[in-house]
Amino acid sequence: MGIRFIEKNRSFKLDAKNTSYIIAIVDDENFLGHVYFGEKVTDDDLNYLMRIYEAPFVPSKNNRDRVPFYDSFPFEYSNHGIGDYRESAIKILDKNGHSYIKLQYKSHEIYKGKKEIKDLPSTYGNEEECTSLEINCIDSFLNIEVILIYTVFENLDVITRSVKVKNLGEDNIILEKVLSTCVTLEGVDYDMITLNGSWARERHIQRKAIGYGKQGVSSIRGESSHQHNPFIALVDKNATDDYGNVYGFNFVYSGNFIAQAEGCQFDTTRVVMGINPEDFRWILNKNEEFIAPEVVMVYSNEGTGKMTRTFHDLYRNNLIRGEYKDKKRPILINNWEATYFDFNTSKLIDIAKEASSLGIEMLVMDDGWFGKRNADNSSLGDWFINEEKISGGLKYLVDEVNKLGMDFGIWIEPEMISEESQLFKKHPDWCIQIPGRKPALCREQYVLDFSRKEIVDHIYKEIKNVISSANIKYIKWDMNRQLSDLGSYLLDKEHQGELFHRYVLGVYYMMDKLTKDFPDILLENCSGGGARFDPGMLYYSPQIWCSDDTDAIERLKIQEGTSMVYPLSTIGAHVSDCPNHTVGRTTPFETRGYVALAGTFGYELDVTRIPEEDRKMIPKQVEMYHKYNDLIRRGDYYRLENYSENNEFDAWQVVSKEKDEVLVTCIQVLGRPNYHSRRIKLKGLEKSKLYKNIETEEVLSGSALMNAGINLTSLYGDFKGKIIYLKEV
Ligand code: DGJ
Repeated sequence: MGIRFIEKNRSFKLDAKNTSYIIAIVDDENFLGHVYFGEKVTDDDLNYLMRIYEAPFVPSKNNRDRVPFYDSFPFEYSNHGIGDYRESAIKILDKNGHSYIKLQYKSHEIYKGKKEIKDLPSTYGNEEECTSLEINCIDSFLNIEVILIYTVFENLDVITRSVKVKNLGEDNIILEKVLSTCVTLEGVDYDMITLNGSWARERHIQRKAIGYGKQGVSSIRGESSHQHNPFIALVDKNATDDYGNVYGFNFVYSGNFIAQAEGCQFDTTRVVMGINPEDFRWILNKNEEFIAPEVVMVYSNEGTGKMTRTFHDLYRNNLIRGEYKDKKRPILINNWEATYFDFNTSKLIDIAKEASSLGIEMLVMDDGWFGKRNADNSSLGDWFINEEKISGGLKYLVDEVNKLGMDFGIWIEPEMISEESQLFKKHPDWCIQIPGRKPALCREQYVLDFSRKEIVDHIYKEIKNVISSANIKYIKWDMNRQLSDLGSYLLDKEHQGELFHRYVLGVYYMMDKLTKDFPDILLENCSGGGARFDPGMLYYSPQIWCSDDTDAIERLKIQEGTSMVYPLSTIGAHVSDCPNHTVGRTTPFETRGYVALAGTFGYELDVTRIPEEDRKMIPKQVEMYHKYNDLIRRGDYYRLENYSENNEFDAWQVVSKEKDEVLVTCIQVLGRPNYHSRRIKLKGLEKSKLYKNIETEEVLSGSALMNAGINLTSLYGDFKGKIIYLKEV
């Protein structure tokens, strides 16, 4: 059993594979204290770790020193307004405008399996895989119940958390903050890893020391964002990819978030994660409940590498759903970088003809097929075929492509509206805006008010008509701007603060409908590249376009950062043409193929116009994809070199679960003069097994490959790549 209640000391012990997490009910006041989070322990009583009988932690029964106690006690879910001056996890306003909440244990329930979270994405698991705990806490003065929900994945080092708030009182209350997790770690000597960037350089890894005070990342853009991913890891100062304690936190949500660590006065670190309280306000009427999205917490006692592999296993098995959960994806060719808006039926058929002869399996028609769209300044919202470009209609085009033996996919951007559109003329009040003020444009478009069900239903109906009119096998759901001018025509003044969260719920509502109505369609999420690369999106789509930057060298940092948390099978990666459209760099076609292979793999170029020697390489790359994709999709991923740190050389490896197949990819970004070979040491193999390098036929043991390593010779020049495939003999 992964969760036990220990009567003797009133504690809850949550045991995952190598992890223990302990909570206790403390003192006459029945506060919930955080006792321990880390490597598995066998003891049942570690309550001394809360130091409640040591000054200055002494709880006072006579009320004299209550505030210092509150300000030092490791609350499992921090209160607000009572004298704990560290970051609160919850903040409410009562009917008189007072802001105060004190939560005390009331009851609990432990059960096998895991419940769904209504209207929100979340991880799932059956009764063999997980056990859950719900701890009901109450503020009896306010009559508010707060239920802390935990699930332990017993074969992984994963504990998930979410929170439900119920208003049992007579009056409405206002929720100003409901975070999803709050954890106290001992000490302040941690490094914090975050994934940061911008458009075209998403999720670059940053590692820095934390200390006293608050530090973290957040988004207030209405989406998880290019700038910061909803992920932080707190790691021992000396932790590496292979050694040390690591605590990873990832938010299963696609909107505003905060992820923060606070080094506190008595040398503890409070970690919190949840919906960003800025611009959040939710009215909870009598008998209503609010559910805060899930946080996934991963502990690793073997460095960041093991944390990564745990996230990958969890997301592949217990988050991603549907037809493509564990299926090889078709190799697609997308026309965006090939044509941008300048295409028509015959151009697309030309690309498809050439592509199909080279082994490419699907054509994806990107932005520009609808309304009057010939540039990014019109037609979003007008979801009908632009017959001037797609002459003969969509069905004709798809049928022609199908005749070539290829499948067909289509791009949509349901959340947006152009000023220059029929929809805007009819419903100018449908976009997010503050009545009376002109909202700001971004990429010439506004955001539709997806908090309004009738708007989502209208857009869905239009898009469903298009999808149902032809043999569509893939959808790319894009979102090309962030939210501003927050205002909804439908919400009254009390409820305007709910818009950000209601918007995300509207997006999930439509994704749910789409994936239920078209369960066989492969859905790829995208947001101006990778601004919504988060676990919330992965619940609906098994892959996400990683970045608009398709340059193989820029992709090294982007994909290294993305794969810190997200499986390779989810990372949308394509071979594109050179000079690269974003950075103007020219790299060998072969290298572009190796980098895209560490993702979903596909093409984004005009295959009728690329150099002949590149075109000739495509069938070989197609063969390479079919040979290695099962391994890459399902295997364990190891970082061998950190290009993010060395800026010169990258290497990574995927090992099959059976440890009988290994693929190593090396990319030399900059050649080194007067240097014969690089030594790379493999990881995660079976020491006693013998492995054959399929190219050189050399046979070495797992222990030699991991401890002595192999020499990587003759990568002459910049941007050169190589793959090494080994098999057990
Ligand atoms: C942003 C995406 O990331 C691109 O791949 C492309 O689909 C454009 N939008 C189209 O507008």
